[in-house]
Amino acid sequence: MFGMLNRMAVKAGRQTAFVNVRMASTQATGAAQKSGSRATIVGATALSAGSIAYYTSQFGTIPFIANASANTVAEDGLHPADHPWAHRGAFDTFDHSSIRRGYQVYREVCSACHSLDRIAWRNLVGVSHTVDEVKAMAEEVEYTDGPNDEGEMFQRPGKLADYMPAPYPNDEAARAGNAGALPPDLSLMVKARHGGADYVYSLLTGYVDPPPGVHVAEGMNYNPYFPGGGIAMARVLYDGLVEYDDGTPATTSQMAKDVVSFLAWTSEPELDERKKMGLQAVIILSTMTAISLYVKRFKWTVIKNRKLYYNPPKSGH
Ligand code: HEC
Repeated sequence: MFGMLNRMAVKAGRQTAFVNVRMASTQATGAAQKSGSRATIVGATALSAGSIAYYTSQFGTIPFIANASANTVAEDGLHPADHPWAHRGAFDTFDHSSIRRGYQVYREVCSACHSLDRIAWRNLVGVSHTVDEVKAMAEEVEYTDGPNDEGEMFQRPGKLADYMPAPYPNDEAARAGNAGALPPDLSLMVKARHGGADYVYSLLTGYVDPPPGVHVAEGMNYNPYFPGGGIAMARVLYDGLVEYDDGTPATTSQMAKDVVSFLAWTSEPELDERKKMGLQAVIILSTMTAISLYVKRFKWTVIKNRKLYYNPPKSGH
C-alpha cells in the first residue's frame, strides 16, 4: 500500500514543482525566532526545576548539595558490597529455584521471630511451589476462624487464601520474646532498607567479633553493616543449618543469598511481570514511533521536494 501511495506522492511532487510563488512562510521572521528561543529557555528551566523536584521527592535530598551529618561512619553502618543478583538487570527475572530454597530458609529459621504479613499462601503458587505443595503446607498450620453457628471461634487447617502465620500474637509479645527488640516484618524489608538486597545479605553474613575498643551493649551483637554496630538479632545462619531438597550445599552464604532472593520477591512480587510489560511497551512504542516517522516523511515529501523560484518581472514594466 505504501508503495502505491509513494508513487502518487512523487507524481504530486513533480506537479507542484511548477508552482512559482514565493511563500511568506518559507522564511522565519526575527520576531518568531525570538519567541521560539524564549520558549526553549522557559521549557529547559521548567524541565530542570521539575527533575530536581522529582529527585528530591524520591530520595529526600537535593542533588549536588552535600548533606551535613553528625554521624560517624560506624553510626551509619558499613556500606554493603554490590552483589550480582540474578534479578538485577533490566532484562533479568528472579531465580525461582533460589526463591524456593529461600522460602525454606525463611520457614525453618526466620519465621521463628519474623512475620511475613503481606504474603498469602496463594502467592507462592506458580512462583516457587505447585498448587498441591502449597495446599499441603497451608494445611499444616492451624488458623482461628469463625464465629460458627454457636457464636464460637474455632480452629481449622489453613487454606490458600490465608496469610503466613505470625510467630507472635502482637508486637508486645514479640518484644518480650526478644529482650525488648522488635523483629520487624520482613515482607517489604528489601525495599525498606538502604542498600536493599545487598544490605540484608551483608547483614546476615556480616557478624564478626567487635574490633578492639568497640563496646557492644549487653545482649547485643556486633555487626558492622547495622547502623550503630549493635544489633539485637544474633547471627542465625550457620553452615548446614537446613537441608535443601535440590541438593544445593547449605552454606551460610548460600542460605543468605536464597533467603534474600525470597525476600526480594516478597517485596516486589510483580518484578518479572513488570519487566516483561516494560519490554513490550518499549517494543510497541518504538515500532509506532518508527511507523509515524515514516508516515510523516511520506506525507511531507510533497512539500519538502518542491522547488520554489521567483521570476522577477521584466524591467521596464
Ligand atoms: C531469634 C529471633 C530471630 C531470628 C531467628 C531472626 N531474626 Fe532477624 N531480627 C530479630 C530481631 C530481634 C531484630 C531487631 C534487631 C534490632 O532492631 O536491633 C531483627 C532484625 C532483622 C532485620 C532488620 C535489620 C534492620 O536493618 O533493621 C532483618 C533484615 C532481619 N532481622 C532478617 C532476618 C532473616 C532473613 C532471618 C532468617 C535467616 C532472621 N532475621 C532471623 C530476631 C530474629
